[in-house]
Amino acid sequence: MEGKTVLVTGASTGIGFVTALELARQGAHVIMVSRDAQRAEEARKEIQLRAKSAKLDVMLADLSSLVDIRDLAERVKAKYPRLDVLVNNAGVISGKRIMTRDGFEFTFALDHLGYFFLTQELMPLLKASAPARIINVSSEAHRGGQMYFEDLHLAKGYSAIKAYCQAKLANLLFTFELARMLEGTGITVNAVHPGAVATSFGSTSSGIVKVFVMLFRPFMRSREKGAETTIYLAYSPEVANTTGKYFIDKREARPSKRALLRKDQERLWKISEELVNGGV
Ligand SMILES: NC(=O)c1ccc[n+]([C@@H]2O[C@H](COP(=O)([O-])OP(=O)(O)OC[C@H]3O[C@@H](n4cnc5c(N)ncnc54)[C@H](OP(=O)(O)O)[C@@H]3O)[C@@H](O)[C@H]2O)c1
Repeated sequence: MEGKTVLVTGASTGIGFVTALELARQGAHVIMVSRDAQRAEEARKEIQLRAKSAKLDVMLADLSSLVDIRDLAERVKAKYPRLDVLVNNAGVISGKRIMTRDGFEFTFALDHLGYFFLTQELMPLLKASAPARIINVSSEAHRGGQMYFEDLHLAKGYSAIKAYCQAKLANLLFTFELARMLEGTGITVNAVHPGAVATSFGSTSSGIVKVFVMLFRPFMRSREKGAETTIYLAYSPEVANTTGKYFIDKREARPSKRALLRKDQERLWKISEELVNGGV
């Protein structure tokens, strides 16, 4: 990864932290995106301690906010002449229905529109750096999801699981549509399920999600294991030309039928474009 620039969102904790650490160990210059200055600085110091020659940069942004995403992308473009790998990883499951300042439901805003808009804003840099790679961290939870196109922000009957499963399905619909659009550009885009990973994921949730996370934490995989497939997709020559695929444990996996619905891929793209462009 020497000479390559990588951006990882949600890099101060969990799977994103390990992704940033390992790619820095392999020689990449890593831009660690976090929303919290203190957590980000602690993470940066820890990586620097564990990988002495790591080249790191911290950039702060709330990725549930369109203004913040646009501002982050501007800072990246102003500072870096290239971006070789974009890892869209920051995600939550939110116990309560919270609305962002753009008027979007928080899970949908961060877990889907955050990926969509940051990718769109960084696309000129990725194109100028091709061959480049985009990795979207999704989840097997997408199998329980459906797109509520008439009520994407779940004003009716919100539940944390419903919102999360919809957003993780959206990650796959977005990945597959983007892969088609990027054909011939030298940019690949793939999605990942990291496994059930013992991170702080779900800890701010409530009810059944919190109980589930607490009960099953001892049986979950480490964050190191959880980051393996993302890291593999970011650097391995084996997948240099692989695009539009869903991976689990470094192997291609079959996504749900809903994730493969071309009309939903196109519909979500169109709506997302309207939301991000109308919202800023
Ligand atoms: N853990 C699992 O079992 C599991 C399973 C399947 C998929 N995933 C996916 O894996 C990805 C990473 O999750 P994780 O397990 O590593 O969880 P995590 O430890 O909770 O990490 C989530 C990251 O997202 C960041 N984040 C949250 N809200 C943000 C915001 N508004 N703006 C910017 N960053 C924000 C967090 O930053 P702060 O530190 O500031 O909160 C944190 O760094 C997520 O997309 C999740 O859906 C996880």
